[in-house]
Parts: sequence; structure tokens; C-alpha cells
Amino acid sequence: GYDISSLLKETGNVTLDGGFTNTASCTSAITYIDGDHGILRYRGYPIEQIAEHSSFIETSFLLIYGHLPSPAELTEFEGRIRQHTMLHEDLKAFFQGFPRDAHPMPVLSSAVSALSTFYQDSLDPFDEEQVEISTIRLLAKLPTIAAYAYKKSIGQPFLYPDNNLSLVENFLRMTFGVPATDYDVDPDLVKAVDLLLVLHADHEQNCSTSTVRLVGSSQANLFASVSAGINALFGPLHGGANQAVLEMLERIQAAHISTEEFMRKVKNKEDGVRLMGFGHRVYKNYDPRAAIIKKTAHDILAKTAGSDELLEIAMGLEEIALADDYFIERRLYPNVDFYTGLIYKSMGFPTRMFTVLFALGRLPGWIAQWREMIDDPTTKIGRPRQVYVGEGERSYVPLAER
Ligand code: ACO
Repeated sequence: GYDISSLLKETGNVTLDGGFTNTASCTSAITYIDGDHGILRYRGYPIEQIAEHSSFIETSFLLIYGHLPSPAELTEFEGRIRQHTMLHEDLKAFFQGFPRDAHPMPVLSSAVSALSTFYQDSLDPFDEEQVEISTIRLLAKLPTIAAYAYKKSIGQPFLYPDNNLSLVENFLRMTFGVPATDYDVDPDLVKAVDLLLVLHADHEQNCSTSTVRLVGSSQANLFASVSAGINALFGPLHGGANQAVLEMLERIQAAHISTEEFMRKVKNKEDGVRLMGFGHRVYKNYDPRAAIIKKTAHDILAKTAGSDELLEIAMGLEEIALADDYFIERRLYPNVDFYTGLIYKSMGFPTRMFTVLFALGRLPGWIAQWREMIDDPTTKIGRPRQVYVGEGERSYVPLAER
């Protein structure tokens, strides 16, 4: 019941842009997206080329330092990460304090937040060496934290990282391995997880990255800022979407309803049902990451004996959506998460770990964006304005008179 244009006049010279649909919060040289044409580039390199040729570690280097590493730089970077994969024994004790059925995302953000207490020697955002060691610690320790969060949820003992293994191999072994039992890391699985991490590595000013930048703009340290980003990613409209997609497919399967019937509900907006994994704030064309993933989804599912039926339901939904006016008019296409949940499930990850995998992938993007923000001398503390729509001035009524 208020007239927004007159309120805006009263408020003065501000722009009201809820959800920041048309407001740039910063300049950035990291990731380029052209949503109308389905283009995504990291530091200028098309995502298709990165996905084909680059590893997750190399992609992390590229995002953070701005150039593709030389062989020596890559070896040095990877070697430093390998040296920092262990968690302090006292930090391991944190995991015991959470309820057994805790979702691993808040466990992840809590443990990352706690890194500020363990590494008080590296919290100065303007000391290059401290930022550098925090960067390495985060990249090295997040997979260990993620695996421990999972082990805790299934009541199994934690495995120490094995520094003869690569980052992804180590993560898979710590997640699926059992102490005193050999765990053979499947190279195809490693390749597929690596690809998924690469595809999630950065996506300019999305909700979690904007959160990392906003928290960091108060000069909060890298651990504190990334912890906030993990919490932003927890939401179902952002990182939680891959979990939501799988749950949607499983509901359709369990209820034995046809894809046509489900789509009718979506279009009629019955009970607020949305086609999860469809639509994107920026992509108004096919998400290029979804195109890459769709190609590999079949191969991975064939190898891991994943659910063909769920994949068929997914493809059926996509086929209807791509030919339906509701979706065409609104320019709703599959986003990266439409297929990732299916792939993660077929690899043996429980649904609650899907968003954790997204966080592992997005970490180098958060770090790169935080560092770009801190290094930019024009950065100011983020402090949006508002348009006040509450009561005008009124006089206080004493408690006895109410
Ligand atoms: N299913 C059905 N209808 C949809 C969907 C969907 N997935 N997405 C948007 N719409 C409709 C809306 O109802 C709205 O219709 P209207 O004009 O009749 O009111 C119109 O399309 C515009 O939608 P908005 O919500 O205004 O678009 P916005 O840019 O704010 O939302 C979002 C983008 C949140 C991604 C949305 O498309 C959505 O909820 N998708 C499903 C969740 C999802 O997959 N999230 C993952 C995002 S990608 C990522 O984090 C990696």
C-alpha cells in the first residue's frame, strides 16, 4: 500500500534495484559472462577450452593469479597445496560437537570460520604473504573439511590426507575410503569430479561471491569472508539447487506422475512448484556449463550404473521445456545444476554432499574475487541504501497505556 515512485523522490538520489538485477557492484577482470549468447570465459579463456584442457588446480591458479601457469609454476602451486591438506587435531574435535545428522554445509562454513582461530598469523588482508598462505591453506584444507563433514554424518572415522595423491584423488579417498582398507581411486571418477569442479570455479558476481566481497569489504579476513560465502551457497535458489533437482526427479519417480503432468503444475505455479535446475538470473540462453555437463552425464552414468530412469525423467522434462511457450517466453533454459545432481548421485555422493561439491569448486573463484577486491584501492565498504516504507514519526506510548 505505498507509492514507490513518490517514496523514491522523498528518499533522494538512490536507485531501488531489489536483487541487483541491473546494478554492478564492482569492476572485475576475472570472469566474463554474456548471458544472451551463453558465453562464459575465465580470464578470457572460453569455458569449453578450459573444460577440455585444464585441471581444477590449474584453473584455480588461472582465476587467482590471472594467467595460465608455466609448468614450474603449476608444480610449485600444487606442491604447496599438498603440504597443507592436514587439519589441526583440535579442529578435528569440532566435528564431534555437531549432531550426527547435521547438514555438511553449515559444518563446512563453521570449520572454515574456525580457521581464523587456528591461523591468527595470517589474518591481515593487506599483507601479501599472509593472503598467499591463507589462499593455499583454504584450497588445501577445504576438501579435507568436506570429507570429514561427510564421515561424521555416517559415523565413520576420519582418514588423514595422503599427500602422494592429487587434490581430487585425496578428497575421494578421504570421502569413500575406510581406514586399514585399500581404496583404489578410479581415474575416470577423478576426471569427472575434476571437470565438475572446473565448471563451478567462478561465475562473477553471483550471490555467494557477492557475499564474500561484501563481507571482505569490511576488511574481514579471507576465512571469515569465504565462510559467509559458503552459507550463501547453502540456499536452495543458489548452491542448493542441485540437491533440489534430484529431490524433484525422485518425487516425480516415486509419485509415478508423468513429466507432462508435472510440467502442467510448474506452468500453473501450483504450490509454487518450479522446474528446479531451470532458469538463471544472467543466462537467458543455454548455460554453456550445462551443455558441457549434458555431454558427459551419459558417459558417467553408464560407467557408474547410475539411475537411467532419473536421467530419462530429466531429459523428458528438458525436452518439454525447450519446446514450451511458458519457458521460451521467459527464456528459461537448463542451468549447470540440472544434470550435476544426477552425476553426483551416480558417483555415490549422498544428496546432502552435492552443495558441498559446489563449494569445493567455487572456492578459487571466491578467493580470486576477494583478492581482487582487497587489491583494488577504490574499494569501499559495501553499504547499500534503502527506501524506507515504515511508519512516519509517532510518539512513544508507555507500556501501561497500551
Ligand atoms: N520454473 C518455472 N518457472 C520459473 C523458473 C523455474 N525454474 N524460473 C523462473 N521462472 C519464472 C518465474 O515464475 C517468473 O514468472 P512470471 O514472470 O510469470 O512471474 C519468471 O520465470 C522470472 O523468474 P524470476 O524468479 O523473476 O527470475 P530470477 O532471475 O529472479 O530467478 C532463478 C532466477 C532463481 C535461478 C530462478 O530461475 C529459479 O528459481 N530457478 C530454479 C532454481 C535453480 O535452478 N537455481 C539454480 C540457479 S544457478 C546456480 O546457482 C548455479
